[in-house]
Amino acid sequence: MSESPVLPTPLHAIDLEPLGDWQRTGYAGDLRLAQAGQKVTLLGWVQRRRDLGSLLFIDLRDRAGVCQVVFNRENDEQMHERALHLRSEYVIGVEGEVVKRAPDTVNPNLASGEVEVIARRLAVFNDARTPPFLLDSEVPIAEETRLKYRYIDLRREAMQRNLRLRHNVAAAIRRYFDKHGFLEVETPFMTRSTPEGARDYLVPSRVQPGSFYALPQSPQLFKQILMIGGCDRYFQIVRCFRDEDLRADRQPEFTQIDVEMTFPTMETIFQLIEGMLVEAFAAAGFPLQTPFPRMSWEEAMARYGSDKPDLRLPAMVDVREAFSAADLEQLRLRSDLPLLAIRIPQVGALSRRERDELRPLLEGRPVKLFEDFARIQKNFPEAGAKITALTSCGPEDLIALVGAPLEESGAENAEQAKPLTRLQLLSHGGALRLALGQKFAERHKLLDPQDFRFLWVTSFPMFEWDEEERRWAAAHHPFTSPLDEDLQRLESDPGAVKAKAYDVVLNGTELGSGSIRIHQREVQAKIFQMLGMSEEEATQRFGFFLEALQYGTPPHGGIALGLDRMVMILAGQTTIREVIPFPKTSRAVDLMVDAPTPVSPRQLRDLGIRLKE
Ligand code: AMO
Repeated sequence: MSESPVLPTPLHAIDLEPLGDWQRTGYAGDLRLAQAGQKVTLLGWVQRRRDLGSLLFIDLRDRAGVCQVVFNRENDEQMHERALHLRSEYVIGVEGEVVKRAPDTVNPNLASGEVEVIARRLAVFNDARTPPFLLDSEVPIAEETRLKYRYIDLRREAMQRNLRLRHNVAAAIRRYFDKHGFLEVETPFMTRSTPEGARDYLVPSRVQPGSFYALPQSPQLFKQILMIGGCDRYFQIVRCFRDEDLRADRQPEFTQIDVEMTFPTMETIFQLIEGMLVEAFAAAGFPLQTPFPRMSWEEAMARYGSDKPDLRLPAMVDVREAFSAADLEQLRLRSDLPLLAIRIPQVGALSRRERDELRPLLEGRPVKLFEDFARIQKNFPEAGAKITALTSCGPEDLIALVGAPLEESGAENAEQAKPLTRLQLLSHGGALRLALGQKFAERHKLLDPQDFRFLWVTSFPMFEWDEEERRWAAAHHPFTSPLDEDLQRLESDPGAVKAKAYDVVLNGTELGSGSIRIHQREVQAKIFQMLGMSEEEATQRFGFFLEALQYGTPPHGGIALGLDRMVMILAGQTTIREVIPFPKTSRAVDLMVDAPTPVSPRQLRDLGIRLKE
């Protein structure tokens, strides 16, 4: 356990009162000019205190915000004296009158800043230790401190806003699905492994020592079984659990908007989800245009070097044709791979220092970057002109070229010695495109977080080759249907098989992912086999499902969207920890409750578990 020193109480000499008949008439943060003249009762925390001699000002905070309360010694000397003892985060009640502030004392930074409350009665319900950080401070607070004292952090206006936003978005989504005939159905948390590509969190069984439940990585199989079970249209706002490397947009437990329906085409799902996103974003005050553009995975990779393109920056262009074979040779570039031109609008030519600053971006990337386009233009004037035309480059834009270097000897290991593949080059180009955009985003107002650029990415490959395991792996999950026309070449050319899978992408973030499913047992069994599963293994892991598929399974499909990611983007945040009330650190620790923890030998014994020394 983390220890905090036990401080003597009471913290300050002040009499605490019971709640008695104190009831709020409304929130302090909601007070406006229209309420001037009204008598109000406010209950909340002391945010700030300013002592101006005979006048004492308290900023009283509640869920809705802050309002200034005035204690005037001339009105009530005794109450003023008691108010002098108030400190940050004391819990108080104030009865008083709302008055219009004089024009020169209006606080434009406060929604309630045109009024203040003249206190007539004060109650102190609780005192508080000095909080570990100031709640209304602009100074950034260490995230560890915020997470340890999350109950204080949550009182901050920004966190209250995020909680409310999340609620509003979730409520709009529930209304939407209800309106469209979808049932919210709960599925088990204590279940079997569902393969979504991460490790499972396991729960040991006491009654069957040595056996474990897995927490669901998603309700994938249950929602498909609900379709077999006649539910027809299912949704659930549901927690999922994945033991994977954590990042800004990944938590070990996170929330999905999970959807499944029978007899859909991909188009059915796209329209359904676009409608849902329109309502969810409207709940946050943002109108959206539909339909969203669609793009094949092939095109996304070729033009954006990513399967989740950020459309706020221009696409990359292969400008190889601008150069002759001799030029490429002179530039020491391979001619069999694209030469990618990255255009970043408005940034202009880079200074020497800015060019040097780009070097770290290249670390670990076996590609060549030409960030000095003026030099290219000087040395290869014809190519320079062609590139300008091919990229529609304006006079204010930055052009950088990324290409594959001709192999040089001197590779330090086998990995380096392997020639770069087209997809690798495209991915490096895509990553550099984003890094360049981000580097200059602030100065040149690029990547506006409220410029919501949605996209459907389709026609994903069905399989990815797993070099380590030397077998094919499901690119989405193994329940995804191949394209009908590709069923023939499942075995002959697995790498070319495309899936009925789709992602909805927003500003470079994968917001959701789904597919039309396999609904025939034979096809499902075949896919398991393709993934290197023996019949026994398939039966052992998914026998129940293969069996269920035989009892009249309708064609079905669905999708799941990350609610945390959606609210993060709506809140203009860069990590989902800001929109999850009680998140975990990058080491999957809850700093507030201090979890995970070792358990008692007794508990281990009950579970039949012995720890290795
Ligand atoms: P997938 O694994 O792509 O698909 O997950 C769907 C969406 O869930 C979100 N997400 C996460 N959010 C936060 N932290 C995580 N660790 C995390 N992992 C995933 C993402 C992602 O797009 N069963 C399938 C869906 C389906 O086929 O219907 C599935 O879970 O926003």
